[in-house]
Amino acid sequence: MQFNITKNTDTRYNAIDWNNLRFGVYFSDHFFIAKYKDGRWNNGEIVPYGPLSFEPALCTFHYAQSCFEGLKAFNCMDASGNITGNANIFRPRKNAERLNMSGERLCMPSIDVDFQIEAMKELVRTDQKFIPKQRGQSLYLRPFIIGSGNFLGVQASSEYLYMIITSPVASYYANGLEPIKILVEDKYVRAVRGGLGFTKAAANYAASLYGGTKARERGFSQVLWLDGVEFKYVDEVGAMNIMFLIDGELITPTLEQGSILPGITRMSILEIAKDMGIKVSERRIEIQEIIDAHKTGKLQECFGTGTAAIISPVGQLTYKTENMVINDNKIGQLSQKLYDTILDIQYSDTADKKGWNEHFKL
Ligand code: PLP
Ligand code: COI
Repeated sequence: MQFNITKNTDTRYNAIDWNNLRFGVYFSDHFFIAKYKDGRWNNGEIVPYGPLSFEPALCTFHYAQSCFEGLKAFNCMDASGNITGNANIFRPRKNAERLNMSGERLCMPSIDVDFQIEAMKELVRTDQKFIPKQRGQSLYLRPFIIGSGNFLGVQASSEYLYMIITSPVASYYANGLEPIKILVEDKYVRAVRGGLGFTKAAANYAASLYGGTKARERGFSQVLWLDGVEFKYVDEVGAMNIMFLIDGELITPTLEQGSILPGITRMSILEIAKDMGIKVSERRIEIQEIIDAHKTGKLQECFGTGTAAIISPVGQLTYKTENMVINDNKIGQLSQKLYDTILDIQYSDTADKKGWNEHFKL
């Protein structure tokens, strides 16, 4: 696959504060764009990053036919921390497949998975100087697809744009691996059974903003959503899946209800934990079970998993009047071990025994 590349004549590189990268604040010099029209995708091309122009009647502005992905590219390092000249994108096939799964639910055309992966690799190669050089930092890739037709009738578009932008990033949360405070939401919902919860639809994030903002005003980093039917079972966090270590068992909500995003970090962490000999279960978890486990001292650790955050220990969970401080508000042993293990895989040319990494020479 060969993509036409139009190089930027200027660079955005010098405007980046590399000592304070944060998350999703800076963007690289180029982006990838492919267009869908008359029932087919065109070849796609890499062009300078910059504004796009749209008609006010763009259907996505009105009816949110939009979904996205999030994944990371890394500069591989040897055991001494020296950069080897190879890059890795972590499990891009899974993200490409999930984009098509989201797209199907949103009545969008699918995009060939190999095409998506080649587009990501070529874009990373083109903007390789934007891949950060420190462990813990990466080049975040944000593929997304939007309806690009102009009309007001509520219907699926017949035209689409698939784009990938990239952003050099550090930790998702300002304080890195420091435990965060999470509010268990008992009034608002993000997704319900039969809805879009299992997809990475932009609309899910719009639905989460109100509860998230209210929680942040009260000093919480994020919201833990409960099921939208009974407000009884744990679903997931705003941008992460959730896991609990209770009495030596790692437990995470099952995906069966269809309201939770099937996280690729979730899937990877469950497999790594099983390999470590830890008992793992995917099942429905009542919030009351967490409260009880906390009261009896059996709730050992709680953490979120996601591409942006990787592993994010939860130091406090608040549900109504119940404030549960977990593991003394410290990073748990298992959280740290899982974090180190997944980072070793992502940054190394050789540590990946599972074939998860898409390695390529820069
Ligand atoms: N749940 C939600 C709502 C998310 O936005 C994310 C982030 O992508 C996740 C879970 C974790 O998914 P993944 O591990 O594939 O990044
Ligand atoms: C990710 O982890 O990739 C996410 O998409 C989370 C958030 C930035 C939406």
